[in-house]
Order: sequence, then C-alpha cells, then structure tokens
Amino acid sequence: MSKNKDKLVIFDTTLRDGEQSPGASMNVSEKLRIAKVLEKLNVDVIEAGFPIASRGDFDAVFNISSNIKNSTICALARAIEKDIDAAGEAIKPAKSSRIHTFIATSEIHMQKKLGMSKKEVIDQAVKSIKRIKKYTNNIEFSPEDAGRSEFDFLSEIIEKAINAGANTINIPDTVGYNIPEQFGNLIKKLIYNIPNSDKAIFSVHCHNDLGLAVANSLSAVMNGARQVECTINGLGERAGNASLEEVVMTVKTRQDIFNCDTQINTGHIVPASKLVSSITGFPVQPNKAIVGANAFAHESGIHQDGVLKHRETYEIMKAQDVGWQENKLVLGKHSGRNALKTRLSEIGYEIKDTSELNILFKKFKDLADIKHEIYDDDLHSLISNASGKEDSQNYNLVSIKSISDSSSEPYSEITLEKNMERFNSDSKGGGPVDAAFKAIEKIVNSNSVLQLYSVNNITDGTDSLGEVTVRMEKQGIIVNGIGSDTDIVIASAKAYLDAINKLNNKANIVHPQLDHV
Ligand code: KIV
Ligand code: ZN
Repeated sequence: MSKNKDKLVIFDTTLRDGEQSPGASMNVSEKLRIAKVLEKLNVDVIEAGFPIASRGDFDAVFNISSNIKNSTICALARAIEKDIDAAGEAIKPAKSSRIHTFIATSEIHMQKKLGMSKKEVIDQAVKSIKRIKKYTNNIEFSPEDAGRSEFDFLSEIIEKAINAGANTINIPDTVGYNIPEQFGNLIKKLIYNIPNSDKAIFSVHCHNDLGLAVANSLSAVMNGARQVECTINGLGERAGNASLEEVVMTVKTRQDIFNCDTQINTGHIVPASKLVSSITGFPVQPNKAIVGANAFAHESGIHQDGVLKHRETYEIMKAQDVGWQENKLVLGKHSGRNALKTRLSEIGYEIKDTSELNILFKKFKDLADIKHEIYDDDLHSLISNASGKEDSQNYNLVSIKSISDSSSEPYSEITLEKNMERFNSDSKGGGPVDAAFKAIEKIVNSNSVLQLYSVNNITDGTDSLGEVTVRMEKQGIIVNGIGSDTDIVIASAKAYLDAINKLNNKANIVHPQLDHV
C-alpha cells in the first residue's frame, strides 16, 4: 500500500450476515476454518457472529477469539444489555476485539418494528454504547436501515453515538434500496455535516437487492467511507452483501481512481471462495467476477488470440493474483503425510494440529485408494468435508448398501449411529438416492421438506469426487447439507445427514434483525 494513500478497512461479515443467507448455517469448526482463511487474507475485522443468538453462535465467537491473532474479532449485539453482555463475554479471549451494536433509525422500522420514538431510539443507542465500554473501547454503531432514514435524525443519532464512544459509524443500506450516486452523496453529506465526524471512521454495509451492493460501497469509498463491510462470494441475507473479492480487486485494479488501498493478501481469495462455497453449499456461478470458473477463461477466438499476443489486450488482472492456480495433479497413493501437509499449505490451508492432519491423511489415503490421482480441487473438497461432521451427538453414517438394477425397484439398506447407539433401516425408492433418503427418514423422522438436491463433480473423470448439496426446510428454518464421495449415493446420504444434523442443532436461534428490541 502506497504511503500517501488512506487505509481502507476490510470488515468481513461472512460468518454473521453471510450466515443469515437461507441455508448457510455453519457449525463451530466450520466457522473456525473460514476464520483462519480470512486471517490469511489479512482481513482487518472478522465479524464472527451474534453471540446472543444461540449457544453455537456464542461458542463460535469465543473459539474464533481464542484462535485468531492477526485480525480484530467483532461480535454483533442489538442495542440491548443482554446482547452486549453476551458479545462482551464471547470476545474476551481476543487479542483485538470490537463490539458492533445497532438499532433501526428509519421511520418505518422505528414505528412498525420497534414501536419506539426517536428519543427512545437515541437513548437506547447511547446507553448501549456506554455499556460496551465495560468490554472494549473498539465500538461500532450502525443505524439500521440508514439508507432509508431521515437525514437530520440520522445525523443527530450519529453525533450522539460518537460522543458516547463509538469510533466506527457504519451506514447500512439494509434493504439494498439505494443507488450509487445517492449513496455516495449521503456519505459525503454525513461526514461534512456531523460536527464530530472526524472522531470516527465511516463504514458502509450494502445489500444487493438491486445488484448494486458493490457499486454503492465503492461510491461511498469515493466519498470518504474508509471501511467496507463485505462477504466472501457476496453471501448474505436475501440477495447478499457486497462481495469482498469485487470490492478489493476494484480498489486494487483502479488505483488511478481510488485514494485508498486495502491490505488484503489477494492471492488467498480463490481458496477462501472455494472453502465458503463448499461449507455453505452455495455454489459460485461460473460467470461471477473474480472467483467464477470462467472469470479468467477466454472462450472466443478473438480474445484468445489477443491474450496470447499480449495478455493486457483482454485481461485487467492476473488470475494468479487472486489465487487461481492450474488444477494440478499433485499427489497420489504413495504420497506421505508431509507431502499432503505441504500441498495443503501451498493452496492456503495451514494444518498445525497433528490430530487434524491425521484425520485428513486418513481421508486422503481412502480417496487415493479409489481415485489414484489427487488434484488440488480434491484437496479443497477434502478440507471442506473433513471435520465437524463426526460429532457423536449427530447422526453419522456407519454403512450403506444400495441396489440399482434395471429390472427391479432400487433399494437401500442403511446403518446410522448417534450417541453410541446404532439404527438400521431399509427402503425402496424411485432411484437409489431416493431409497437412501427414505431409509434415513425411517430412522430420523425429521418432518422436513427437501427443497433442493444437486450434484457437482469436483474434478473431471468418472472417478471424480461427487459433491452433493441438499437444502431442507422445517418450520421456516432452512439448512444446506453437503457430502462428498466418489460414490454419489454415499455422498447424497452424507449430505442428507449433514442437513438433518444442522436442523436439529438450529432450533431456537434468534435472528438479529427480526427480533424486537
Ligand atoms: O443489514 C444490516 O442493516 C445489518 C446490520 C446489523 C448492520 O446487517
Ligand atoms: Zn446486513
């Protein structure tokens, strides 16, 4: 970063707002793995969760606070005492911590959601910011739905929030309603009009309902915002948030325009994107900027010719700069533990814990026995599916036998284990996957609805790992389950169980923005 440029703080909210995407729930160990990749990316602030929401959210924030050293760990809290206290306890082990509190300031939210007057909202915000000081002096305040709030009231509450101790003021376009010129002007006017605005960093948090989250964020940056809240792959509530990779690469590529720069290690962007996609079960569309499979592929003859003569004719960034590597054949049946560890580190995963390496090595050997040639993409999948699933309190797959025969109805026999107890069942079905799901249902009796089933092959060839995603819904709670195996019936059963386990662990979660203060 050049010395005479401002720093643009990158605040990643994949683990909080990203997790609010329907189905994107993650368990503690999955969140920790994503946090480690975010640390490698050199993200300044990781919003690790909303501790009051559930025991799992609290544990995730606590765990991430204990393990991440190079990024500030932030916890979200509504402007309520019990939320702030939970956030404060969860971030206690962090080397550097922040609490982010918010309360709605638009007329429609204050009247219809909170049932509070303007004065009550200001008092609640100020009281909450003061309470946060018990835990940390790094305090972020968001007037929720700022993008639709009345300007004078917004200015008044921000001024009082800064006086109370907030040092980051985040302006959310909560419903993705703003357009770039308008949003940029809002930031400029706020900074200009609020007398103590120089005492805080102005931040933006844009949703993508009109596809403008990145454009709005960048317009805000051009008008003085110095923190952007964003997520890997643009994950987030409804249409998602501004995508980290697009914001960071635009600022880096257009240094002729931007008066600031980030400290992101862009070479880790693609591994981060792959990890988030496979943990959450949200595939990345092929034509997605930066991280889509086609983002650097040149299909048309004219483009290929140009790129071969002189790369810059059609490419404004280098694929390697964002972490694209050839999907190399890297390891095989005879590769040892060290070779695995080294290659994992080269593609972005530092495995320090011996027991974690042992588990991965065993899975790697099992795969190499079947598949012989292991590519980088197999390793990404192995990592994403390696841990956190075999918890003895969850249903785990012990064995499955499935019969697919053109002359008789497909049939499946299954054994599951939970809390050291084994359960057997069998079923016929419309196909082997259907039979397996029906056999599982006889045991788990989930009363859920299967909303989506999809299979992707990880590498080319018929011996490739198949990665299956299922989306299940029960009483308004949606989860994605993922499983991979060279046998797609087994991958499907694993994905189904992953979803069932997530549904069982997801009951009674508090949603930050739907629950009333
Ligand atoms: O979109 C939003 O307003 C939020 C707040 C909690 C910052 O996510
Ligand atoms: Zn949001």
